Amino acid sequence: MSSPRFVQLAPEAPARIRAELLAGLSAPVATIAPKYLYDALGARLFAAITELPEYYPTRTEAAIFARHLAEMAAELGPATTLVDLGAGNCEKAERLFTAFGVRRYVAVDISVDYLRTSLEHLQRHHPAIEMLGVGLDFTRSLCLPPEVGDGPRTLFYPGSSIGNFTPDEALAFLRQAHGECRGGALLIGVDLVKARDLLEAAYDDPLGVTAAFNRNLLRHLNRLAGTDFDLADWRHVAFFDAHHSRIEMHLEARLDTTVHWAEGERRFAVSARIHTENSYKWRVEDFTALLAAAGFSASRHWCDARGWFAVFTAHA
Ligand code: AVJ
Repeated sequence: MSSPRFVQLAPEAPARIRAELLAGLSAPVATIAPKYLYDALGARLFAAITELPEYYPTRTEAAIFARHLAEMAAELGPATTLVDLGAGNCEKAERLFTAFGVRRYVAVDISVDYLRTSLEHLQRHHPAIEMLGVGLDFTRSLCLPPEVGDGPRTLFYPGSSIGNFTPDEALAFLRQAHGECRGGALLIGVDLVKARDLLEAAYDDPLGVTAAFNRNLLRHLNRLAGTDFDLADWRHVAFFDAHHSRIEMHLEARLDTTVHWAEGERRFAVSARIHTENSYKWRVEDFTALLAAAGFSASRHWCDARGWFAVFTAHA
């Protein structure tokens, strides 16, 4: 019985993380990268979001996989090495193991600590699959370690996390992904443009779970950067910007307020905002063109009946 191996690549020094966060906070348009939404509580709040009736992406994608798994596997051929980008609890990848004939599973997430429990648990259920956990912030640069091994790889990037990148960033990311496939393939979930009211309800639910998820970022920031945000001063704002084809999430000051840290401060006037996330919504034609521009060939896609979400396959 094998046990999972783990590697942590270039962990970002706390001082650098702090400097980057404070630079974002001090920028003309205050901005915090969405990866900081996922501290331990943030990850749990996101899991709660996926249970909300208004948040359709997770269950829509799962239904597409459940229905078309065999066709996707036939299209891509065996995924001997499956690389899961943003693996978290590894739940989505596990559903592919049998159909895709996975022999080696590589779970990648920002910190290897997020992967230990889930991978050890998964290994017990799949003793014949070789498992590797990789701690890597691939939003900075996707460069897989040699431990992943030789041979073609299937890169799995579900959940429409690609939507956090601007189209330019998405192209750069997919070009790197193309190189890392080593002649293998890509399997990626992409959220599609749809009616504004559906989109906005998914990111501003009446129960307030998404609001809690967004506002929790300030607790995380207080810990990482030593700021003194008072959560009571900030409200969640989410809207669809049709021009950019993206949901924007912001935190908006309810009143004039000043945030302090060791060697600085920033004043926010009432209604001033901190931009915390973009979630781009794609059209099938545009995403198909993006994959081709990144070097992928013969892409195919599968949608739900309402055309809300698409899973693409492409060859490297
Ligand atoms: C995990 C980035 C795909 O953009 O829908 C959910 C995150 N933000 N609700 C998304 C999220 C607010 C989610 N992604």
